[in-house]
Amino acid sequence: MKLGLIGYPIKHSLSPWIHTRFLQQIHQEGQYELYETTEDKLSQTVKEIKEASLSGFNVTVPYKQAIIPYLDELDVYAKQIGAVNTVVHKDGKWVGYNTDGLGYIRAVKDQYPALFSEQSNALVIGAGGAARGIFYTLCQEGFQQVDIANRTIEKAIALKSLNQTKQVETKCLTFEEAEKNINNYDLIIQTTSVGMNEDIAVLSLDNLTKETVVSDIVYQPLCTTFLQQAKVKGAKIHLGHTMLIYQAKLAFEKWSGKNVTVASLINDLEKRLIKDE
Ligand code: ATR
Repeated sequence: MKLGLIGYPIKHSLSPWIHTRFLQQIHQEGQYELYETTEDKLSQTVKEIKEASLSGFNVTVPYKQAIIPYLDELDVYAKQIGAVNTVVHKDGKWVGYNTDGLGYIRAVKDQYPALFSEQSNALVIGAGGAARGIFYTLCQEGFQQVDIANRTIEKAIALKSLNQTKQVETKCLTFEEAEKNINNYDLIIQTTSVGMNEDIAVLSLDNLTKETVVSDIVYQPLCTTFLQQAKVKGAKIHLGHTMLIYQAKLAFEKWSGKNVTVASLINDLEKRLIKDE
């Protein structure tokens, strides 16, 4: 099976390592190639991928939206989110999917399933590309309330319109309001890039209670300053590297039509990231 990744920069991507492990798991030969490309060469690179007749490929920053005009079809979920991270070559057509949001939610659900069987309240911090899929998926998962806190409140209001379910309530909050009410949430997800390779937290968790699950999509460092704050408060934490594995699992299962398991990959990636810190 020929697979690949298009994006820029992707030289240090962990995806080849993850998908090679999945190929081994299903005893299938294959390669996962990197197609690093600049914006001016995007159409040429997409042509190259199509001519190489890949079974499918992943799309990462900055092309998750730019890839859309090159595809024959989009599934409903990718259309709603407005971004594609997985393309499947099926019956001669190139079909776009998005496994980022669902991958993240599956990763949290795996570790804290009780959150999804009660009428929980969640807070999404951030309103950028990563927040879109996570917010949209949370609204479909039986949560009672899914609020959004963002530095620029207008962007939170724009994101709120993705919530089309009448059962789920959404409030848009400033960081100050969120900090004050932080004890109201069962799950808090940090989706901004704040904390990546830096010792700062996007907002303060002083009022946090220990029943809350605090999650961060940043996985370098593995335990961000934000998550360290949560730990000090005795709260439960959820690490961001699990999203990377789960979005890959969902993509690989679309390409191969086979189920793959992730527990040993999550463990190995954790060790690898700690070693690199
Ligand atoms: P995108 O999601 O479009 O790829 P991103 O850099 O991943 O972009 O994330 C953007 C999100 O991170 C936004 O919610 C952004 O807040 P604004 O909407 O106010 O710009 C948030 N963000 C980025 N840097 C931030 C910072 N220093 N403090 C607070 N929020 C920040």
